[in-house]
Amino acid sequence: MTRNLIEVDDLTGPELLSVLDHAERTPPPKVLADQGAVLLFEKPSARTRSSMELAVTQLGGHPVTLRHEEVGIDSRESAEDLARLFSGYGRFIGARVFEHDKVERLAAAASVPVVNLLSDEAHPVQTLADLLTVRQEFGHLDGLTVTYVGDANNVARSLGIGCGLVGARFRVSHPQGYGFVAADEARILAAGTDFETVDDPAVAVAGAHVVYTDAWYSMGQEAEQRERRERFAAWQVNEELMAAADPSAIFLHCLPAHRGDEATDGVLDGPQSRIWPQAHNRLHSARGLLLWLFADEVG
Ligand code: CP
Ligand code: NVA
Repeated sequence: MTRNLIEVDDLTGPELLSVLDHAERTPPPKVLADQGAVLLFEKPSARTRSSMELAVTQLGGHPVTLRHEEVGIDSRESAEDLARLFSGYGRFIGARVFEHDKVERLAAAASVPVVNLLSDEAHPVQTLADLLTVRQEFGHLDGLTVTYVGDANNVARSLGIGCGLVGARFRVSHPQGYGFVAADEARILAAGTDFETVDDPAVAVAGAHVVYTDAWYSMGQEAEQRERRERFAAWQVNEELMAAADPSAIFLHCLPAHRGDEATDGVLDGPQSRIWPQAHNRLHSARGLLLWLFADEVG
């Protein structure tokens, strides 16, 4: 059966942990030897593109990356036709899209796995790196408390789902009007997540082992930048907020960071920050995902 990763809950909890185990396999078997992978990008990317390209290469394969102006999903050619085309070129298709349903339509028409490389609703490959980083820090994931402070966006939704799958609690704190829609809350709860929304960020981080934030305005929301900077100011992760978390707490951010907005330099560069191991784990967890998807083909 073809497996996709459109959202983290395409994996079961044990499967997610297996992906993290595969991420730490050295040397990795060359499961993609002489095979291709096609990566489509409608939005900019530094980490996701380079880590996925390098993961494919480390597994013996050859990535082909196409940007929107070259491939034009639904403008030059339909998502379905592109899925049929690239199913014959690549062992899998990765896609970073604006509308989430585009990656779902690619998956429905493809005969190879489709991996969501970020959509407006989800960022599952980010969550894999996040959980790998947390597990490396604490040695386990179950029973930990992860608090996300800021915009309840694609990164937050996938993280909330991932926390539930591995037995971590998930708290979120955001200004009024910037929370999850009901369907996303239901999806987070359906993953088994012990989930709570807490208005006051200082209360939300009390006892947290992980304090996480992301941009106040995501790609495509640049026009709202001014308004959002005002609305989110009290949700900045600064030294004072970090001091309210558990003394063992680490700070994570998917990056890119808007320094001085959602997090201060003191936190991003401070002793609790794990943003660079987290960013480097994008490569290892991408490799882990591909090994999990294809390892049984070579044993
Ligand atoms: N965190 C993340 O997905 O970064 P990029 O947008 O640079 O890929
Ligand atoms: N929430 C951000 C994540 C970037 C990696 C965005 O969608 O732009």
